[in-house]
Amino acid sequence: ANQQDLSKKKILITAGPTYEKIDPVRFIGNYSSGKMGFALAEECAARGAEVTLIAGPVQIKTVHPNIHRIDVESAKEMYEASVANYPSSDAGILCAAVADFTPELVADKKIKRKGDELTVVLKPTHDIAASLGEMKRDDQLLAGFALETNDELQNAQSKLERKNFDFIVLNSLNDEGAGFRHDTNKISIIDKNGKTDYPLKSKREVATDIIDRLVQLIK
Ligand code: C5P
Repeated sequence: ANQQDLSKKKILITAGPTYEKIDPVRFIGNYSSGKMGFALAEECAARGAEVTLIAGPVQIKTVHPNIHRIDVESAKEMYEASVANYPSSDAGILCAAVADFTPELVADKKIKRKGDELTVVLKPTHDIAASLGEMKRDDQLLAGFALETNDELQNAQSKLERKNFDFIVLNSLNDEGAGFRHDTNKISIIDKNGKTDYPLKSKREVATDIIDRLVQLIK
């Protein structure tokens, strides 16, 4: 996209997984690569936006000079960076695969093998999406992602309402080439008016479709 249809706009994007520490050498993580969120950041910057990219631990570089990257590790760090940066943004796109639970206690020394079992007690993390949804002003937009294994449309619709999203991008684990770690993705965009399906595309082309939708809604 050569059109500068996001010039003077500030966009906050979360991307990648989070790592929740168990002890100094172990963590609970997930398979998110960050590719979709980074593709969205490059697309927004190419269209003239100032981007704040809050990235979990990923192996990708940012290219565009108008991407301001904040590297975080845990859900708590991602939450704090997101809450601090959303008020000055025109829109937020929450693409990160944030841990829903984190160890209640982090061992300060490496846990030794002993006994027959080890119990790690987990407590819930902050839902970043729900928090930003509550903070959202009338002049701001918020979009999220959903990866569902069953009852996709219903779950996506209730998530749209619960988190106060303007639209939600649904990627299905049931589709070949979609979701985690792939370079391609197959999405549907759901808003209060219904659902639009898109064919399998590269993540950058998917980013163009998502940002086209954002531009239609942005004030
Ligand atoms: O409820 P669920 O985790 O499936 O919702 C997914 C959406 O919520 C994604 O946009 C994800 O980035 C966001 N999310 C978040 N903070 C969490 C959990 C999910 O921002 N703790």
